[in-house]
Order: sequence, then structure tokens, then C-alpha cells
Amino acid sequence: MRKVFFTLFLAVDFFCSAQQIQVPSLKEAAGFSIGSSIRFVPFMQDDVLRQLQAHHFDSYTAGSDMKMYQIAPREDVLQWARVDSIVAYTQKHNQRLFGHTLIWHSATPRWVEKKAKKNPKWLDGFMKHYIQTYVGRYKGIVDGWDVVNEGFNTKGAGYRTASIWYEAMGEEYIEKAFRYAHEADPDAVLFYNDFNIERDTLKFNSMMKMVTDFQRRGVPISGIGFQMHIRMDIPNEVIAYTLQRAADTGLQIHLSEVDIIFNTHDDSKGGGVQLYDRLTESMRLKQAQKYADLVHMYQDIVPKSQQYGITFWGFNDRDTWINRFFKLRDWPCIYDEQLNPKPAFYGFLNALDAP
Ligand code: XIL
Repeated sequence: MRKVFFTLFLAVDFFCSAQQIQVPSLKEAAGFSIGSSIRFVPFMQDDVLRQLQAHHFDSYTAGSDMKMYQIAPREDVLQWARVDSIVAYTQKHNQRLFGHTLIWHSATPRWVEKKAKKNPKWLDGFMKHYIQTYVGRYKGIVDGWDVVNEGFNTKGAGYRTASIWYEAMGEEYIEKAFRYAHEADPDAVLFYNDFNIERDTLKFNSMMKMVTDFQRRGVPISGIGFQMHIRMDIPNEVIAYTLQRAADTGLQIHLSEVDIIFNTHDDSKGGGVQLYDRLTESMRLKQAQKYADLVHMYQDIVPKSQQYGITFWGFNDRDTWINRFFKLRDWPCIYDEQLNPKPAFYGFLNALDAP
């Protein structure tokens, strides 16, 4: 009896994965790179996820494995083993590795914060050493980096001042991070990356002021990352407007963390507000349209030479960070909780121009 069950399970498992793979590949349908964030450890143990990832994506972003608290967990320790394994995986599968992220207030280890609070002058030297060791080690291997992540206030205008980097170094920490990274790998594509810039024009304007100032003064920035964690009711007109202005800089444009939620939250951990308790067919179809709209806007507004690519922040509703982080039940991804493609997948796919 047990054996029958086991065989049945294997058969079902095989059937499912075959089904899931038998859809067109996103990377083959797109004229730019397509990626997803990945949590390496569960990923390497999940055959279906690995097959889907290799089928659809030619770009790899680590969900958290490349953040500072993973690399520098204690003073005088830099641990590379996980990143080396990721490099091996991406090279084996011929994928672009994108580095997320060098400097982010939210991924700064406690020991760095403590030390910098006591001795603010120490932080610049640490930053330089950290960035140059890290970027230097993966020179020519990591294609591009989110050099600074979320340096502007969650809402409205102005720099995020509640960050040890700002407190210890002032707003110059951002340009210093770019200069250090560029020195370590002059060919790496260097991004400033943030959220809500596609909807909050005060925040967007603050970022643009910094970006254009960097360009004028020769600070080595090469791209703008729109995280693009959007909601169904974020107007396309505002997204198109901000994308257009960002593209007008001539820089690379990366939609770096795409997902589309139905519910809402206050941008803080655990801050989810459950508006919908289930996903109806009409919601699934509307989401497909929103994914298609996003692809159309990206292709129509961003010149080909500036299309760094589109990266999903996880590609299935089972594993999405949204539910864990905001304490919500939402369905923001292109694959569902059973790892089957949703209408959102087809919306995205069918909107892609052939390469
Ligand atoms: C998220 C990860 O996906 C979660 O697993 C982790 O608990 C918190 O960070 N903006 C970013 C990403 O730039 O690094 C965040 O990733 C999601 C929001």
C-alpha cells in the first residue's frame, strides 16, 4: 500500500512539473533580461522551483543572501560561501547575477550600527573596505549592483535620515558608495534602487534631484532601480510618467522587485491590511491586465538600450515575501500557490515583444 502511494506521489509530482514547464519561456519571449529573487537554500532543495527558474529566467537576484548582515555577520568576518555557491549556480545555467544590495539601512548588521554610533568617523572606512572587498571579489562576475537601496524617506520628499549611514556620514554616503563600487569594478552597472518612486512623485523628485546632480558631477551611477512593488490601484499614468522621466536621464532602468498586490499595507513589517480574503476569477484577470500594462509601459517608454530588465520579487504566491513580511494573504505573483501559471503569467508573457 505504501509503495503504491509513493509511486502515485512520484507520478503526480512528475506530471505537475511537466505541466508547469510546458509553457513558453519568459526569457525567450523577452527582448531584455528577466529575473526573479531567489532564496538559495529552499530553492536548491526544490526541484520544481529550480526547473521553473532555469526555464524562465536569465537573471538571478538573491532575495537576502547577498545583504550585509549575511556577508558581515560579525566584526572582522566576511563570509562568502553562500555567494560562491550562487555564482556557481548562475554560471552553470548561464544566468546574469545581479548584486542586491551593498548599502541598505535595513540590512545593516547590529554590530555595525553600534560601532558607528560610538564612533561615526569609523563608518566611511568600513564602507570603503566592505564595498571594495565585495565588489572586487566578484569583479566581472556580478553584472550590476544595487549600490544603495532605499536612501529616501518612505513617504514624501527628502533623504531617509533615520539610517546609521546618513547619521554618521550625511547624504554623501550615497555618492561615496557609488565611487567605491566603481573603483572596485569599473564595468559593473551601478544602480540606485528604491520603492514607491513610481507612485509618490515627491519621493521620485527627491531621487531625481540626486540622480541628475550625480550625472552632472560625474558620480558613477549607471542606473535607476524601480522596485515596483505595486498595488492593483496604482494608476498607470503615474507609473508611465515616472518611468518616462527616469528614462530621460539616459540611465539603465531596472524594474527590480516586481509584484502586484490587491490588499494594502503601511510599508512596515506586519503592517498589512486585509481587504480581500480570496482571489476571484475577475481579480485574476484584472491582475493579468496590470502585468501586461507594466510590460507595455516598460517596452514603450524605456529605450531598448536602457532596458536592464524586469525582475520579479519571487515568482509564486506560495513563497512570496508579501505574506510573510506584511502578515497578509495576497496573490501578487505570476505563479499561484500550487506553482501553476496564473492569468498574470500569460498577461506578462503575451505583452512581451519578441526579441
Ligand atoms: C525582503 C525579503 O524578500 C524578505 O525575505 C526579507 O525578510 C526582507 O527583505 N525591498 C527590498 C528587498 O529591497 O531587499 C526586500 O526583500 C523587499 C523590499
